[in-house]
Amino acid sequence: EKGGYEWFMLKEIAEQPRAVADTLLGRHSIDGHLQLDEMRLSDDELRDVDKVIIVAAGTSYYAGMTAKYAIEHWTRIHCEVELASEFRYRDPILDRSTLVVTISQSGETMDTLMAIRYARQQRARVLSICNTNGSTIPRESDAVIYTHAGPEVAVASTKGFLAQVVACYLLALYMAQVKGVKYGDEIASLIAELEKTPAGIQRMLDEGDQVRKLAAQLAGSRSILFLGRHVGYPVALEGALKLKELAYIHAEGFAAGELKHGPIALIEEGVPVFIVVPPKARDQLQEKIVSNIQEIRARGARTIVLAEDGDMDVVPFADHLIRLPKVPTLLQPLVATVPLQIFACELASQLGHDVDQPRNLAKSVTVE
Ligand code: M6R
Repeated sequence: EKGGYEWFMLKEIAEQPRAVADTLLGRHSIDGHLQLDEMRLSDDELRDVDKVIIVAAGTSYYAGMTAKYAIEHWTRIHCEVELASEFRYRDPILDRSTLVVTISQSGETMDTLMAIRYARQQRARVLSICNTNGSTIPRESDAVIYTHAGPEVAVASTKGFLAQVVACYLLALYMAQVKGVKYGDEIASLIAELEKTPAGIQRMLDEGDQVRKLAAQLAGSRSILFLGRHVGYPVALEGALKLKELAYIHAEGFAAGELKHGPIALIEEGVPVFIVVPPKARDQLQEKIVSNIQEIRARGARTIVLAEDGDMDVVPFADHLIRLPKVPTLLQPLVATVPLQIFACELASQLGHDVDQPRNLAKSVTVE
């Protein structure tokens, strides 16, 4: 049951530190050696992989977008991400050395399942990242990595998403280990960083009140925009999707660098814009986004800035500042997504909507 929470979604948001910790649990030794027992693909098969194509829908697709940055950075293997519903209709180039990675919380999404069937017909190997034991997608795949988020009941995916990102990162590190491009100590230190994230997620939960207040202030908005760069870009898309699904408010996520190529025309007096700022360590990215914030604020946007502790550059341009714990850039989505989930949930609740069962949506989409 809901365990005292008003909505399953709130309960599931609160379960995220656990979902992340459980997904990491038992998958590595202290010296950083990863073991993914349910993998079912041999090291030789993995060494043959020269291209990864991630295929998924909705929030799982955004987990895939996030994973692409990690896979290419850590493994140096080319990686594409594609919407499951588009994949098989574009005549994709697949062969025995292509690894198709599907991501699905439910394991029953028809678009994703059809993509798997297509990929296997083309002789590609298919690995699924899935949260539901024994569901159709892992059964029809060559290999599987389960996320251990526990059952997700609310239609809007929350803990499923964070666990997917973690599982994708484990896969990336595992491939890097097998290919010999990353060694035990490097992997161990990245795993150690991942293991710190549940505490960071917990902090975002503990600081949720500021977001709830913000939701009350912004409940009358006609449109809310989200900007991010690098892995902050999928976070922006996810923030916008949550708001559309739950609050039925027009919301859009953009890559911040695209602003001047069009979306900046949407900025008018008072429009709320969330901006996910990359860690200071990525100085070029961080500087660029700070100037984006300046630009939109000068045009009247109400800026809600998510930036790591100690980033003072953003302070003069933030109407609201949400502090994030300092984490490596690739791990930032694990903490930055949380306030956006709380925001959408709270805003929808204030508007009187059924947060767990939004209109027109089903938990698993079993038709194409
Ligand atoms: O079960 P799946 O991960 O395959 O589902 C994919 C999408 O249908 C799902 O993420 C959907 O976008 C959610 N409602 C997002 O909150």
